[in-house]
Amino acid sequence: MGKLAGKVAIITGAAQGMGAAHAKLFVSEGAQVVITDVKQAEGEQLAAALGPDKALFIKQDVASAADWEHVVAATKAQFGQIDILVNNAGITFAKPLQEISEADYIKIFQINQLGTFLGLKAVAKEMVAQHAGSIINVSSLNGLVGGAVGYTDTKFAVRGMTKAAALELAPSGVRVNSIHPGVIETPMISQAGTAEAVKQFAKAIPLRRIAEPEEVSQMVLFLASDDSSYSTGSEFVVDGGMSAQ
Ligand SMILES: NC(=O)c1ccc[n+]([C@@H]2O[C@H](COP(=O)([O-])OP(=O)(O)OC[C@H]3O[C@@H](n4cnc5c(N)ncnc54)[C@H](O)[C@@H]3O)[C@@H](O)[C@H]2O)c1
Repeated sequence: MGKLAGKVAIITGAAQGMGAAHAKLFVSEGAQVVITDVKQAEGEQLAAALGPDKALFIKQDVASAADWEHVVAATKAQFGQIDILVNNAGITFAKPLQEISEADYIKIFQINQLGTFLGLKAVAKEMVAQHAGSIINVSSLNGLVGGAVGYTDTKFAVRGMTKAAALELAPSGVRVNSIHPGVIETPMISQAGTAEAVKQFAKAIPLRRIAEPEEVSQMVLFLASDDSSYSTGSEFVVDGGMSAQ
């Protein structure tokens, strides 16, 4: 029997990249998965490939409270319950401080930080009522050490939000943890036009390479499953040793 047999998960930003890898692993471990994203075609394609009894795609902007209400209601209508939330959707940009506009800053805040808060709030309500659940918030290595302004700020906030929510929700049997990936081979990295820079950067990683999304999925699976039953409010790092330097 799979580690997630009988469980229902919502994974945001799962049309591609790490979210898609998590969705595939979750289904192979017996879960039913709701994939959400702003990218409709890619999300629908993935859900269809996983099978209609196993996966549902819902178009969602994580920064919209109304969209969250819809995602929670549609998940319950289709699969009956919500056991796992992976707050994965995120964007990045790397601009020097003086080039970041107020609009840039508001946008990254709305998706990475407000989106995580809205998801936590909408889903925790359901999990508290069923006295069980696991929420995994995707922060970053840049939620532990500094990186680009804007991105780093939101990822530190996700880490802090995780601890505050974990303490509040622990008596209700709901666990909340953050994961902190280093550099992972996804469209976020490849589309930034930084392939050469990433190659150079990889030389400074203790394990001397960037990671595949599936290597992060294994950590997310651990946190989603009952294998991590005594872990809450903690940081789980998947960075090839970068933060140890
Ligand atoms: N790739 C890395 O090296 C790395 C490292 C550390 C942390 N992370 C974090 O991991 C998460 C996944 O990143 P990835 O590398 O797979 O990126 P990605 O760009 O491949 O995937 C992110 C997904 O989020 C979706 N998304 C963007 N805005 C959205 C919104 N408003 N509502 C719903 N969905 C939205 C995108 O459409 C995309 O499908 C992000 O939170 C990212 O910050 C990535």
